[in-house]
Amino acid sequence: FNVPAPKNEPVKGYAPGSPERRELQAMLKQLKQEEKDIPMYIGGEQVRTGNLQRISPPHDHQHTLGHFHLGSAEHVQQAIDAALAARTRWAELPWQERAAIFLKAAELLAGPYRARLNAATMLGQSKNAFQAEIDSACELIDFFRFNVHFMQQIYQQQPESAPGMWNRLEHRPLEGFLFALTPFNFTSIAGNLPTAPAMMGNVVVWKPANTQVYSAQVLMELFQEAGVPDGVINLVYVDGPTAGEVIFKHRDFAGIHFTGSTGVFNNVWKTIGENVATYRTYPRVVGETGGKDFIIAHSSANAKEVSTAISRGAFEFQGQKCSAASRVYIPSNLWDDVRGYLIEDLKSMKMGDVEDFSNFINAVIDEKSFDKLARYIDAAKNDDSVEILVGGGHDKSKGYFIEPTILVAQDPQYVTMCEELFGPVLTLHVYDSQQFEKTLELVDGTSPYALTGAVFAKDRYAVDLATKKLTNAAGNFYINDKPTGAVVGQQPFGGARASGTNDKAGSILNLLRWVSPRTIKETF
Ligand code: ALA
Repeated sequence: FNVPAPKNEPVKGYAPGSPERRELQAMLKQLKQEEKDIPMYIGGEQVRTGNLQRISPPHDHQHTLGHFHLGSAEHVQQAIDAALAARTRWAELPWQERAAIFLKAAELLAGPYRARLNAATMLGQSKNAFQAEIDSACELIDFFRFNVHFMQQIYQQQPESAPGMWNRLEHRPLEGFLFALTPFNFTSIAGNLPTAPAMMGNVVVWKPANTQVYSAQVLMELFQEAGVPDGVINLVYVDGPTAGEVIFKHRDFAGIHFTGSTGVFNNVWKTIGENVATYRTYPRVVGETGGKDFIIAHSSANAKEVSTAISRGAFEFQGQKCSAASRVYIPSNLWDDVRGYLIEDLKSMKMGDVEDFSNFINAVIDEKSFDKLARYIDAAKNDDSVEILVGGGHDKSKGYFIEPTILVAQDPQYVTMCEELFGPVLTLHVYDSQQFEKTLELVDGTSPYALTGAVFAKDRYAVDLATKKLTNAAGNFYINDKPTGAVVGQQPFGGARASGTNDKAGSILNLLRWVSPRTIKETF
């Protein structure tokens, strides 16, 4: 039987007065009145430790949304035991049965879970309704539907057989358990990282970022309601080193599916390397890490299009997308126009909480991130070689608010042109319009990352030159478009260099990492 042909979930508009807006507003109100008690989930059981950690919206840190129960090394061990106990039965379940569970998850999320997961993402991660919709609803639904489709392709892929024999490929799950270590910035990624390996018959220990626990619990309820059996995905809340200490020393550790910082991923590789002789099998290490994503405009580009791409590509979700533009190169002939448009765009961006749907900018995720961003902004204010074109304000009295900020740096190697900030702070450099090729070399050499990037040009020779010169500078390269908003099944997403292993989330490449094929030859 063929699984249903995958289709991208249509994005709802949340226009004033629309039924979806009313439903979402009612859900926001309801969640704000509750104080949730959030357990871990191990072997299908809810686990409460009493070590309570408060959850508050980043845009209103005095408000309490609930508490989660922080676990310890012992709970990580229990989660591994529960996963391994569930493994054989899950691995032996026909793949069509597993597919049906995740197709059901897609439908539950398209319907009854949509408002709840969107509202949890909005409140817990300070993401506005439109950004929540493309993330926790559409992208995650797409991950489920497309992954099921790719899963079928993998199982159906079989070798040739010469007369007198029958060759088969058996796509076995990995021997052991998988670790999913997930970030705060996309609820869809938090949902995809444990489920992609699970779909392929693996069992998983899942540790979300502490700043995403509020929506992670809704995801766990969704998985349970869709029919993911007890023990297949186990959700624990522990600090990173505690999880690492137990997981990376375990004989049955079979791989990690990671999205987070380059620094943490480097430590993961190192620890896995140190323990490599411990494991039953070489672990799969799949990760998407940092970025210093660029936009470069050529002198032939349309100034308005470039400016709109910058405003949206750099500032949606407060620039906290791994794909967000954070360094921009503008040719001198376009600068006057681009400058005018950018000032106009940024001045019109309203900042505030998520309940007012007209706020484009909300808060950054936590105090640590706020303090880091404020430090970079204040240093720029004191540097004569940098102009603050717009923004520069920050205030954490009620929530962690950083004004959308554009720094214009004379030095193309200025610190914020090179380092990842992960916030609504963009650095722009104006180059001599005659020096496009040289500037492309600068783009390629300035940062160790290679996640996303965009070129804007009308001149086709310029497009061709940029595409060639920047071959390795981005895993997702955009021509005349902003570098964010990859759609599952259309623009497979991921980067190389210091940005990750480029196993393209939501693609067949990714799912292939979660199987260990056995070749069977039978002779007649
Ligand atoms: N996949 C996300 C984007 O492209 C990160 O913006």
